Amino acid sequence: MPDVLAAYDALVTSGELRPDPEQAAAARTLDALATALVQPPRTGLLARLTRRAPEPPRGAYLWGDVGRGKSMLMDLFFAQAVGVPKRRVHFGAFMLEVHARLAAERTRPGRKEGDPIPPVAAAIAAEAGLLAFDEMMVTNSPDAMILSRLFTRLIEDGVTVVATSNRPPGDLYRNGLNREHFLPFIALIEARMDVLALNGPTDYRRDRLGGQRTWLVPNGAHATADLSAAFYRLTDFPVEDAAHVPAVDLPVSAGRTLRVPKALKGVAVFSFRRLCGEARGTPDYLAVARAFHTVILVGVPRLGPDNRNEAARFVSLVDQLYEHKVKLLAAADAEPDALYPAGDGAFEFQRTASRLEEMRSDAYLAKGHGA
Ligand SMILES: Nc1ncnc2c1ncn2[C@@H]1O[C@H](COP(=O)(O)OP(=O)(O)O)[C@@H](O)[C@H]1O
Ligand SMILES: [Mg+2]
Repeated sequence: MPDVLAAYDALVTSGELRPDPEQAAAARTLDALATALVQPPRTGLLARLTRRAPEPPRGAYLWGDVGRGKSMLMDLFFAQAVGVPKRRVHFGAFMLEVHARLAAERTRPGRKEGDPIPPVAAAIAAEAGLLAFDEMMVTNSPDAMILSRLFTRLIEDGVTVVATSNRPPGDLYRNGLNREHFLPFIALIEARMDVLALNGPTDYRRDRLGGQRTWLVPNGAHATADLSAAFYRLTDFPVEDAAHVPAVDLPVSAGRTLRVPKALKGVAVFSFRRLCGEARGTPDYLAVARAFHTVILVGVPRLGPDNRNEAARFVSLVDQLYEHKVKLLAAADAEPDALYPAGDGAFEFQRTASRLEEMRSDAYLAKGHGA
C-alpha cells in the first residue's frame, strides 16, 4: 500500500528534510489520495460504453512560494502512486503538446466536424489516469481559452490531476485577456481538487543555496567541485550515484530536441560549449528557461572578437533565463563585466553583464521561477 506520510517522515528522520507542519499536513492529504487511487481495475469495455467512467479520486493543487517543498511533495506522492498509469510533466511542456495534438486532430483526414478537445482529452486520458503537473501557470490566452474544457473532459474521462503552482487557483491568469472564459477552470480546480497551501516561512531552496557563490572564477577543479556539491544539495541525489544522474532530451520545437547532460528535479547542468558553442538559438534557450528553475553552466570562457557567435548566443541565453527568473550557477574565466571586453556587440553585452550581476543578488535568488 502507498504511504506518502511514512515516506515523508522517513526523510525527516534521516535528516534530509526539516520537520514542517504544513508539509506534513499536505503529505497526509496526498497519502489519502494515493490510497484512493489503488482501486479495482476499470470495468470492461461494454460497461464503459454504456456508462461514464467512474468518478476519479479528487486531485490536489499544491500552491505556495518558491522553495516550500511543493515539487518535493508531489514527487513523493507520485512515486507512491501505484495501480494507475501515471505521468508527471512540466505544465508548460504539456500545454505545448496539447496544442500540437489539437492541431493534428483538426487536420486528421476523415475526421468529423466539431470540437477537437474531446478526442484529444480522451487520448490523453487513455494514456494516464493520474497526471501530475509541475509549475502550473497560465500566461497566454490560447492556453486560458481551452483549459476549462480540456480539464473538464479529462476529469470526466477518469483522470486525477495533481499540480504545483506559485499561485492560489483564484490568482491564475490574473489580469489575463478574456479572463471570464477562464474562470470556469478556477471553479473546476476548487470543485475537483484539494487546494493545499504550502506557504511556511522557509524557502528551503534558498537555504540550500545559502552561502553558495553563484558566479565562480576561474574555471577549474575548485569551481567544478563547488558546483557539483551545489547540484547534489539542490537535488538530494546521492553523490555515490554520480554516474547515474539522468540526461534528458528536451523538446525544443517540432522534431528538435536539446540534450541536457544532467537533468534532475528542475536543475540542469550544461557546458558552455554545448549550450552556446553550437548552432543554438532563442527557441532552445526558451525551452531551457521554461523547463528548469536552476541552470548550472560550466566552462564559460573569456570571449573575444573571434567569439561573436558564442557571445550573441550567451546574450540570448541570459535573456531567457533572466526573464523566467531561472537561477544561474556558473563557472567562468572572468567576472561578468570582464567576460566580453571587445568584439561585435561588446557594448550591448554590458546589459547582459548587468543582468548577470542582478542574478547574483539575494532578491533575484528569492524569486519564483516563471515568466
Ligand atoms: N522540509 C524541508 N527540509 C529541508 N529541505 C527541504 C524541505 N522541503 C523541501 N526541501 C528542499 O528544498 C528544495 C526546494 O523544494 P521544492 O520542492 O523544489 O520547492 P518548490 O517546488 O516549492 O519551489 C528542494 O531541494 C527540497 O528537497
Ligand atoms: Mg517546484
